[in-house]
Amino acid sequence: MPAITVSVRMGAPSETAADTRVVPLFEGETLDEPHLQSLVDLGEAKPGLKKVTVEHEDAPGGGRRRVLLAGLGKRDELEPEKARVAAAAVAGRAKELGAVSLSWASPDAGVAAALVEGTLLSLYSFERFKSKSDDQDDAGSIESLEIAGEGVDAVAVARAGATAAAQNAARDLQNLPANVANPAFLAGRAEEIAAQHDSLQLEVLDREEIVSRGMGAFAAVAQGSYAEPRLIVLRYTGGTDGPHLGFVGKAVTFDTGGISLKPSGKMSEMKFDMSGGAVVLEAMDAIAALGLPVTVTAVVPSTENMPSGRSMRPGDIVTAMNGKTIEINNTDAEGRLILADALCYAVEQGAERLVDLATLTGAIITALGSTYAGLFSNDDDWCAQVEDAGKTTGELGWRLPFHPEFSELIKGKYADLDNAPEGRKASSITAAEFLRNFVSEVPWVHIDIAGTAWDQGRPYVGKGASGYGVRTLVELARSAAAA
Ligand code: BES
Ligand code: MN
Ligand code: ZN
Repeated sequence: MPAITVSVRMGAPSETAADTRVVPLFEGETLDEPHLQSLVDLGEAKPGLKKVTVEHEDAPGGGRRRVLLAGLGKRDELEPEKARVAAAAVAGRAKELGAVSLSWASPDAGVAAALVEGTLLSLYSFERFKSKSDDQDDAGSIESLEIAGEGVDAVAVARAGATAAAQNAARDLQNLPANVANPAFLAGRAEEIAAQHDSLQLEVLDREEIVSRGMGAFAAVAQGSYAEPRLIVLRYTGGTDGPHLGFVGKAVTFDTGGISLKPSGKMSEMKFDMSGGAVVLEAMDAIAALGLPVTVTAVVPSTENMPSGRSMRPGDIVTAMNGKTIEINNTDAEGRLILADALCYAVEQGAERLVDLATLTGAIITALGSTYAGLFSNDDDWCAQVEDAGKTTGELGWRLPFHPEFSELIKGKYADLDNAPEGRKASSITAAEFLRNFVSEVPWVHIDIAGTAWDQGRPYVGKGASGYGVRTLVELARSAAAA
C-alpha cells in the first residue's frame, strides 16, 4: 500500500485540482452552491453523520469531477471523533469510485487533523500475502489528500499525516505472522527506524546480555524458545524540554502460554501479543520524524513464549533485575515477567515518566471490551495526562483502582511475588499490581491493550490490527514538550 501524500491548501476549497472534492454538510444549514443545495432540497443528500452523496460538476480547469457531500450531523456537536468517522465513510466511498486525489473542505480548523487520521487509517489494508486482491473491482488507490480552507493548521495536519502513517506501520508489524515477525525481525525494524533519524540511537541486547544483566524474569520466558530474544532500546534526544519519558512495549511475538498451554481455539491471534512493542517502535519513528523537543527512551522486550524441553515450569522461581524474586505459577502470565525487567531497565536509564503498553490480560476484554483500554497508575497527575492524550486521539482509556488487598494477592508462597495468583480475582489489576513492583517511585501508567489492539471495530480501524496507542504516545510526547 503506497503512502498517501497529505497537504494543506488555503483559499477557496472549490478551486482544488483534485479529482474528488468533499463538501461538508450539516443539519439545518444551506450550502452556498445552488447545484449542491438542490440535492439537499430534493432529500437526496442527507446531513446525518456517515452519509455520503455523490455528485458531478464542471472542474475549473475543464472536464468533469466528483463532489462528495459528507454528512457531519449538527455543526455545534462536531468533534474530532465524529470527523474521523465521517472521513472514513468518505474515503471508503471515494476509493470505490476510483478517486485518486481527494480534497476535503475543512468544516472547522479543530477537526482538520482528525480528517487526515480518519482517511489514512480507514484506507489501511494488509494484502502482502494475497496473490491477488480479493476485491476484483479494485481500480486503484487514493494517492493524495488535501485539506482545504482558511485557517487550517498546516503543522497539525502534517503531524496527523506522519502519525497515522506510523500507526499503519505498527499495524503492518502486528499483522505479520509470527514466523516472519520474530524478535530479530522487530530488532531489524528498530534498526531501520534508527537509521532514518540522527536523533535516534539503537541498543539491542541478545540472550546472553539479557541473562548477564540480571534480567532473570525475561530470560525465563525466553528460555523455552529457539527464536532468540531481543531487548530493543531506542533512545531519542530531541531536546531538553520536559521530563525524560520512558515508553515500554510488550512484544511477545507468539504466546502459546508455554507449559501452561493455551487452548488451540483463537491461539493464532497470539501473533498480536507483540502489539505493545510494535506501537512503541513506530511511535518513536513518528516522534523522531516530527522532531518533538523531548527525550524518550523506548524499551521493547521481545521473545516468543513456547513450550519445550527448555521451558520454564510452573513453580520455578526467578530473580528480576531489581532483585525481587518471582514464583512462576502460570507460564501463560509471561507478559508481566518480561515487562518486569524492561521497566527496571527503563528506570535505570533515567526515565522520569513511564508508560507501558501491553496485551496483558484477557480479563480486560471482559471488563472494557474494545472501547477502552485499561489504565493503571501510581500517579494521579501522570495518569490524567495519559487519559487526556487518549481523549484527544480517540484512543480511550479507563482507569482501574489499586488497593492494598490486591497487592496482598500477588505475594508469593515461596518467593516475593506470584505471577499468577490462584482464583484470578481482579486479574487485570493484579497484573498491574505486579508491574508496580518494578517501577520504583517513578510516575507510571500501564495500559492494558488486550481488548483494543486488534478487531477494535471502530469505523476507521475495523478488523485486524489497530495500532492502538501510537497516536497517544505521540500526543504525550508533544504535550510533554509543550508543558
Ligand atoms: N497475551 C495474554 C493476554 C491476552 C489474552 C491478550 C487474550 C489478548 C487476548 C497474556 O499473556 C495471558 O495469557 N494472560 C493470562 C494471565 C493469567 C494466566 C493470569 C490471561 O489473561 O488469561
Ligand atoms: Mn500469556
Ligand atoms: Zn501474552
